[in-house]
Amino acid sequence: MNKQQIKICCIGAGYVGGPTMAVIADKCKNLIIKVVDINQKRIDDWNNEDLSCLPVFEPGLAEIVGRTRNKNLFFTSKIEESIMESDIVFMSVNTPIKQKGIGAGKASDLRWVESSARQIASASVGHTIVVEKSTLPVKTAYTIKNILNSYSNNESGKTPKKTFSVLSNPEFLAEGTAINDLLFPDRVLIGGDNTKAINLLRDIYLNWVPAEKIISTNLWSSELSKLTANAFLAQRISSINSISAVCEVTGADIHEVSKAVGTDTRIGAKFLHPGPGFGGSCFKKDILNLVYLCNYYGLDQVANFWEEVVKINDWQKDRIYKIIVEKLFGNLANKKLSILGFAFKANTNDTRESPAISICADLINEGAKLVIHDPKVDEESIIGDIKNYLRNKNLPFYDCGLEFEKDIYNSVEESDAIIILTEWEDYSNLNWQKISRSMRKPGWVFDTRNIIQIEKVKSSGLNIWCLGVGI
Ligand code: NAD
Ligand code: UGA
Repeated sequence: MNKQQIKICCIGAGYVGGPTMAVIADKCKNLIIKVVDINQKRIDDWNNEDLSCLPVFEPGLAEIVGRTRNKNLFFTSKIEESIMESDIVFMSVNTPIKQKGIGAGKASDLRWVESSARQIASASVGHTIVVEKSTLPVKTAYTIKNILNSYSNNESGKTPKKTFSVLSNPEFLAEGTAINDLLFPDRVLIGGDNTKAINLLRDIYLNWVPAEKIISTNLWSSELSKLTANAFLAQRISSINSISAVCEVTGADIHEVSKAVGTDTRIGAKFLHPGPGFGGSCFKKDILNLVYLCNYYGLDQVANFWEEVVKINDWQKDRIYKIIVEKLFGNLANKKLSILGFAFKANTNDTRESPAISICADLINEGAKLVIHDPKVDEESIIGDIKNYLRNKNLPFYDCGLEFEKDIYNSVEESDAIIILTEWEDYSNLNWQKISRSMRKPGWVFDTRNIIQIEKVKSSGLNIWCLGVGI
């Protein structure tokens, strides 16, 4: 294969496919990259002349797309044609949890992986390197190879035989820091059994990633490492959140504990911030996928160990909601609560699995009226998320329990309590004197992210409860 002419197709123009291919295109001007999707609107949005309207918001992304789009990076819905002319095809499609049938609620729904494998099998020409970019259950490469080879074996002999190499190259970027994570990755992982294919992909990354950060493993180690990395990260959050509850009843302070524990270089300080529970599209689904895998292989103790990380996460959300109810005299009927933040973390408009969903829905179910403020999340997503949650629990949803406000100070007027659920910068330096004057008394502030100055809230006459501190 001539390096000068390498052509790449990425199936899936989502949160991973778009930014990842944009960075590769920017760093490897000799490559031609086509990002394809079955969702025409997504493709149109990626091609929007106004770079502030791209379908994914990430700091630094619009600039990179502006430099590369229609030069060596193309967003198109011509899937077959793009696969046909490519040497390397990345699969970057969604892999949510299966909703029904065997493994429902835990196993990955692989229908999009299978359909893209079939698209590749049918449209490819000659030798194609197929790269798993999606997060997948261990042994998915086996399924993909099976599908690909079944097409290759069916050749009539009139055209040259199709051949395939399958690699696993999971993505470790986090939302809000995706571009930085792609430019300066802690590591790039390439799993496979074909040295030539591994080296070709390695050469692409070598354009900007130091050689010592590129790790090669076998296919199954690579697939399992991605699930394990997410499980470990989530486990750290559940660990510190479980200790936050112990702090509240003993008088210890979670920040002091977190610092004292995290300064041990063997443990490290990152991912020890307590909060209302981890959200985001992947932690829960990837752990449950690991749990399913362990159960499948009869490793029930291992499965139970990891499942506990998700259970503690659900418990954290539940106990926060119950503390709020208890502090407000056990009654939320006719009370107005101001919710500050709905996104699963700051600097994103993504609400998938946000802890705000269950906390808000449970408060509404208690009879509270919520006024929600979030700088980036739109009303439709919030209503949809809360409705879904209540529907799944067979609970009713009344529109009257929900209002939205774009101005923080308007949102807290006449309110009985303020509940901070996302660590947006805007919430860390509020005028508490002004807020206190406009609230109903006794007014409460619940800070689940520990971003406000406790003394300022106290001196304004409001009551305060901080996660892991308990005051
Ligand atoms: P996404 O839903 O944003 O994007 C997936 C895209 O694939 C969708 O636009 C969908 O229309 C498209 N698609 C599905 N089947 C297709 C097909 N057959 N042909 C063409 N297009 C098709 O998902 P995402 O957030 O980009 O995640 C993709 C994968 O990456 C998942 O496995 C996820 O676990 C993993 N991952 C996600 C993140 C993250 O932060 N979002 C980080 C690391 C890994
Ligand atoms: C996470 C991982 O960090 C990425 O490496 C991985 O690629 C990605 O999942 C994935 O596979 O999808 P992401 O979910 O975007 O990235 O964001 P994180 O920064 O990991 O935050 C996840 C959740 O944990 C958020 O709700 C956040 O508020 C919470 N969190 C994080 C804490 O409560 N405390 C912390 O110390 C860190």
